[in-house]
Amino acid sequence: MQRRIFLKNTGLAAASLAVLPGTKLFAGSTDEKVKIGMMGVGLRGQNHLELLLRRDDVELVSICDVDERMLKSAKEIITKSGKKMPEIFTGDPYSWKKMLEKKALDGVVIATPWEWHKPMILGSLDAGIKYVASEVIIGITLEDHWDVVKAAEKNNAHVMMLENVCYRRDVMAVLNMVRQGLFGEIIHLQGGYQHDLREVKFNDGVSAYGKGVEFGEKGFSEAHWRTEHSVHRNGDLYPTHGVGPIAQYININHGNRFMSLCSFASKSRGLHNHIVKQGGENHPNAKINFKLGDVVTTSIQCVNGETILLQHDTNLPRPYSLGFRVQGTEGLWMDVNKSIYIQDKSAKNDQWDEAKSWLDKYDHPLWKRWSKDTAGAGHGGMDFFVMHGFIESIKRKTPTPMDVYDAATWSAISPLSEKSIELGNQTVDFPDFTGGQWMYRKPTFSMGDEY
Ligand SMILES: NC(=O)c1ccc[n+]([C@@H]2O[C@H](COP(=O)([O-])OP(=O)(O)OC[C@H]3O[C@@H](n4cnc5c(N)ncnc54)[C@H](O)[C@@H]3O)[C@@H](O)[C@H]2O)c1
Repeated sequence: MQRRIFLKNTGLAAASLAVLPGTKLFAGSTDEKVKIGMMGVGLRGQNHLELLLRRDDVELVSICDVDERMLKSAKEIITKSGKKMPEIFTGDPYSWKKMLEKKALDGVVIATPWEWHKPMILGSLDAGIKYVASEVIIGITLEDHWDVVKAAEKNNAHVMMLENVCYRRDVMAVLNMVRQGLFGEIIHLQGGYQHDLREVKFNDGVSAYGKGVEFGEKGFSEAHWRTEHSVHRNGDLYPTHGVGPIAQYININHGNRFMSLCSFASKSRGLHNHIVKQGGENHPNAKINFKLGDVVTTSIQCVNGETILLQHDTNLPRPYSLGFRVQGTEGLWMDVNKSIYIQDKSAKNDQWDEAKSWLDKYDHPLWKRWSKDTAGAGHGGMDFFVMHGFIESIKRKTPTPMDVYDAATWSAISPLSEKSIELGNQTVDFPDFTGGQWMYRKPTFSMGDEY
């Protein structure tokens, strides 16, 4: 299918199978269960596993992982759910290929280390799967991002990045307020990933958090792989939780686009200091030079004139906050102080209102309808929606709520910020993954209360 036609199709929220000619996406009636295979059932994958097992419209057909301990936990979760044990693929890092060959799947959910996302997405698309959901970050290099976009277009398939923060309740209430014009015309936005990950990047190889300063072969869960990225790379390595909601507020790839980007990295101290404090200065890891700056700051200019400030801050002591700020000609929201101010509408001139009453009043229709179903789902319930969106799209044979262009655009900030820093903080052009179609595509994300 021609690129232009594919782009048009993926922009139609309620598109039916008719817009994807000749493609059988989901065989059978809406009563039939959606057949899902999972790649990676580590700590994040197990969250998705629980959500999938809770649904009556999903049949978990197969799972794949290379780690016996993670598989054991996953099997326990499945047994406890009372659902049928899926076929398990393991034994080597490419056993997911056997899973793709052997099982007829409607969709694949990927929750593996970042460097595995692109090969697993491409492998799934090559195997003819039309719906692929990947955990955040879809590639390492800029070329990886183009490869994923081109493969989705070539195969006429849907690739959704599981960016759950777009569904956070306050984030969605603010989306509702933005769409109703409460903040006026949006001028500037901020967000980021500001999360002390020192006890995630290091552990004792047994418990995931709180003990030890090991990583790599000796580390468990994310310490096994994520820390290497802090050793070798300097940039905003995890931009999507901050930029996803921001992109929805200003319709990126749907009438607007990122034009250029510039990043700065501070010096790197946090990870080294943590190792010395917890493991002593003679611990072998105390010799490692971490390339990742402790605070990486990125500015983005948008074609419609908005500016964005993103921060990646994962190596220093600090309480968690994504640091959202959404500011327009009439007022602003800031999540750190949980406040909103709207000119002529706030209680007092030049004084913050507590955000809560505004957020309650403008609760998004999705949350109003589904909040009971979010009980027990991860990250305050927002994880329910991201999986719900993926599964409902497969059932209805529609494009996913967030598409491959969203995925590539948000995730490509990592390699672009690395490049900017490497070039001495030079401003770099932002690629247009939509090939000019951003001008014509209309906003589609969460326009109603369905999914
Ligand atoms: N959206 C969120 O809120 C959120 C939260 C946590 C993690 N994540 C993302 O989820 C992904 C996974 O993170 P995690 O915390 O679960 O890490 P993890 O290390 O706990 O799990 C990764 C799993 O992938 C498996 N794996 C590695 N290589 C494999 C291969 N070749 N084939 C099959 N399985 C393989 C590992 O054995 C492990 O079980 C990452 O992209 C991470 O950034 C997202």
